Amino acid sequence: MYQKVFKTALLTTACWFGLQAQANSQNVEQLFKTTCASCHGQELTGGMAGSLVDSQWQTEGTDDALMNAIKNGIVSAGMPAFGATLSDEQVRTLVVYIREAGAKAKQAKQPESQMGKTFKTDYHRVVTKEVTNSDGIIWAMDFLPDGSLLYTLREGELWLMSKGGKKTQIKGTPKVWHKRQGGLLDVYPDPDYKNNGWIYLSFSKPAGNNAEGESIAFTSIVRGKIKGNQWVEEQTLFEAKAENRKNRGWHFGSRFAIQGDYLFFTNGDEGHQDDAQNINTQNGKVHRIYKDGRIPKDNPFYNEKGAQQTIWTYGNRNPQGLTLHPKTGELWSTEHGPRGGDELNLITKGTNYGWPKVTYGMNYNGTPITPHTNLPGMQQPVHHWTPSIAVAGINFYTGDKFKNWQGDLFVGSLAKKQLHRLRIANGKVVEDEIILKGLGRIRDVITAPNGEIYLTINDRNANHSKIIAIAPK
Ligand code: HEC
Repeated sequence: MYQKVFKTALLTTACWFGLQAQANSQNVEQLFKTTCASCHGQELTGGMAGSLVDSQWQTEGTDDALMNAIKNGIVSAGMPAFGATLSDEQVRTLVVYIREAGAKAKQAKQPESQMGKTFKTDYHRVVTKEVTNSDGIIWAMDFLPDGSLLYTLREGELWLMSKGGKKTQIKGTPKVWHKRQGGLLDVYPDPDYKNNGWIYLSFSKPAGNNAEGESIAFTSIVRGKIKGNQWVEEQTLFEAKAENRKNRGWHFGSRFAIQGDYLFFTNGDEGHQDDAQNINTQNGKVHRIYKDGRIPKDNPFYNEKGAQQTIWTYGNRNPQGLTLHPKTGELWSTEHGPRGGDELNLITKGTNYGWPKVTYGMNYNGTPITPHTNLPGMQQPVHHWTPSIAVAGINFYTGDKFKNWQGDLFVGSLAKKQLHRLRIANGKVVEDEIILKGLGRIRDVITAPNGEIYLTINDRNANHSKIIAIAPK
């Protein structure tokens, strides 16, 4: 008896150190196979123990409850406790893994949408129709007051489509660095366009080579005007400090919102995740400047030595959705998580959104980032998607065609090729409905002047995009 206990203790200790050393390198697939699959099955669909993908939970089924079951076991039911052999970080990756498998099982049951076919959603019968299409990746679009539609091609082209459907390329727009996620990104007409004619663009600007000889870029924000199909009167409003230009092609962020005299824009972590907590860099931030590029003195870090004065919020990974609530004026943003932990955030002055100290996700290879989903001083997302859907453009519906969608937030997803409709009440997401699925990667969503919902969709492999409309039926 004594010997057995002693041996187990020794083994556990040895295992503990071994596993701790491995904790940050072992991927979750492997961990699940060696530690859990014997009871829960290779596909998580059950065996000796219950399925982890059928949404039927013995516990409460929340992240915390699953985490607790794994750490402390459910001894009476035959679930061993793993708290002594697995780190909190590893347990967190297992919870993400269980969520991924659950979503996959659920998705398999959901039919794909078809263009031109009428279908039912929770509140409206709708139909999709094609507005236009183009080679390349349409990154963003917006309407001008006369009903014409502006859109960017990430390759570096700005196009204007008249109300009648005639398309013209606007010449003379900035030369962009088109690589990986970089290129010509957001386009946004000034809310006061009728009077001032300004149009805002964000793009990746070449910055030469880094020490390793790789080509690098940074985000540049400009405004200009369109006169006779030419981009003219360009003004540069924001560029990263020279020493902070190091993007090799990832996480540019780049969405705009304008409120009064203020221009908000996002800059992702550019693949340098620790920068998100460093207020001396532009990376992993939402920024606020005046529409003419001046920096407001009441920005939260304006007076901090060395700080990037344009910062409005920090700890943001890669925000590619940004929009103002039409009634309350609140600023909302979606940001891409890593593997798991895509977020919807309410953006407020000076707030730290936690990346990469806290996240609901893990690394793409299934290794942990952090055990923490919450820490003091860091803001929780209003909503998160685990597994990730790859959240992109967002827009509150304000049109007159869908009366039961008034004020709902529409959210595009790239990887899962879904359009989500969120209803938000008292600061919480109370409905998350998938409206469309499978038509393509959805990058931007807007309410059209005629009350329809316009989306950009693209097929990455074919390097082809469409703008489609959702209309009532
Ligand atoms: C010796 C068999 C066994 C092993 C190994 C095992 N489990 Fe379990 N697990 C069970 C049993 C039995 C239950 C009780 C509920 C059931 O049957 O689903 C359970 C319950 C759970 C629950 C709670 C599910 C619910 O319905 O709320 C989770 C989460 C879970 N296990 C995850 C894991 C993970 C992750 C691992 C690997 C680290 C693992 N289990 C390894 C047998 C096992």
